Amino acid sequence: MTTRGRFITIEGGEGTGKSTLITALRAQRLLADAVFTREPGGSAGAEEIRGLLVTGEPDRWDAITELLLLNAARRDHVCRTIEPALSGGSHVICDRYVDSTRAYQGLRDVSGDLIETIHKQTVAVDPDLTIILDAPAEIGLARAATRHGPDRFERMGIDFHTDLRAAFLRIASNSPERCIVVDATQSPDAVVAAVMSSLEARL
Ligand code: TMP
Repeated sequence: MTTRGRFITIEGGEGTGKSTLITALRAQRLLADAVFTREPGGSAGAEEIRGLLVTGEPDRWDAITELLLLNAARRDHVCRTIEPALSGGSHVICDRYVDSTRAYQGLRDVSGDLIETIHKQTVAVDPDLTIILDAPAEIGLARAATRHGPDRFERMGIDFHTDLRAAFLRIASNSPERCIVVDATQSPDAVVAAVMSSLEARL
């Protein structure tokens, strides 16, 4: 029987270095056969929904519509990409997942209960390990601004992003067995080394 792969998610606020980290993880021997994917997106249908979520004005969607769009994208992604890979024995590394919903949409006008209920009833696949990249909002937004024009979420303002950082740290302290917080103000090499030592211990 094939051993199920492990599901690892990488989370954090804007400009915390997720993309740099993921590029470095792709080059690691330990992860040579892993499937790398991202949210919102990661399947053809979910990538189309991503376009609706990341473009336009910050108030383009009301909070519950946004939650439903994210979950529609997530269900397609899980059914078509994540679950087949895990059942086939591959590890999956996903750039953002349900903790981003808990953190971002949890700061909007949506109850935590609704977020959990929709997740349990429509997706119900949870990560085995979550890396949370942590940096002050000012540093993250400044880094993100150098990459491209701000996307819809980056334009939500500094207070939103400060609360977002606190929300990710709360998630980590509520699930200490699953989440590892990594200081994203360190050099990229130090971040990769910290993440690889957590992964080596678990894979
Ligand atoms: P990215 O910046 O990692 O590409 O993600 C796109 C944006 O989508 C990012 O600003 C965070 C946002 N997002 C949510 O608000 N909720 C979610 O559940 C996910 C996966 C992403």
